[in-house]
Amino acid sequence: MAEILPESDALPRAVALLDAGAVVAMPTETVYGLAADATNGGAVARIYETKGRPRFNPLIAHVCDMAMAERFAEFNALARRLAEAFWPGPLTMVLPQKPQSGVSPLVTAGLDTIALRWPRGFCTRAIAELGRPVAAPSANSSGRVSTTTAEAVDADLGSRIELIVDAGATPVGVESTIVKVDGNGLTLLRPGGVAAEDIEAATGVRLTRGAKSIEAPGMLASHYAPNANLRLNAGEVAAGEALLAFGPRRISGAEKAVAMRNLSETGDLREAAANLFSHLLELDRSGAGTIAAEPVPQSGLGEAINDRLARAAAPRDS
Ligand code: TXA
Ligand code: MG
Repeated sequence: MAEILPESDALPRAVALLDAGAVVAMPTETVYGLAADATNGGAVARIYETKGRPRFNPLIAHVCDMAMAERFAEFNALARRLAEAFWPGPLTMVLPQKPQSGVSPLVTAGLDTIALRWPRGFCTRAIAELGRPVAAPSANSSGRVSTTTAEAVDADLGSRIELIVDAGATPVGVESTIVKVDGNGLTLLRPGGVAAEDIEAATGVRLTRGAKSIEAPGMLASHYAPNANLRLNAGEVAAGEALLAFGPRRISGAEKAVAMRNLSETGDLREAAANLFSHLLELDRSGAGTIAAEPVPQSGLGEAINDRLARAAAPRDS
């Protein structure tokens, strides 16, 4: 069983485990991550093993400052601009990888690019202390809902890892936005904690969307799946369904929902993102066969929320 330590006490033990090639669940500002030394192939392999994740998905390498970031990737002026505007924070950049960077090819899945992120929170302190980047996908078994509390990590992965660092609920609640920097162009690979509109405003560059062919677990259709079926943009609640609500007004039949959670009573998208995964887990625990989800607007962080909901609702074939 995993030991759960508060973040105030956990740093020495977390860093010792990372240094020894173990995986440690720890908070970032987005979701809890399952972290391992990104330069140690055996440690990275343990991430895949613990999650049961298919090998071909590349991982994000998390760094603690620009000096570390520049050891692993080439930054052009546009990438630098993004780093200044959004790091540390919930933005991941896919950049050309520096040759002989020392990052395990298991992290990049053999690509010549690398996904880099400088997060906030405990994770950053652990990286600084370790002196090496950590690979950290969300701390959940493959295909399941991402975790935003230590308790949720424990329920999913507690029997498979040694240490969970507890910092309470993560403030952002959805994973980082992933942007590929291609010369002077930007491609949105995954909507997330930084709104696409904010990236466009900070850079003056229009994001290209709808990139296909990547490589992201976040891009597998049935990612983030709860046990229950999820019915999107519901106009009413049917008998026996649970309700994932959004905003002050309820759809018809809401009073007969077997369980209800509201992503944000006031319709605040930031609050809704922070609540998304924990509310899905809680509604799932109600035992309802179907969760009806009220519509969420597509602006700002709504893009990331709707992306996760659509994947959670996608048909599963395994
Ligand atoms: O908020 C987050 O980003 C969380 C926390 C823990 O930091 N981490 C996370 O990592 O979501 P993960 O491994 O679940 O997501 C990695 C994503 C994948 O969707 C993968 O396809 C994409 O990054 N990715 C990684 N390297 C890439 C590359 N070279 N080119 C394109 N996409 C890449
Ligand atoms: Mg994930």
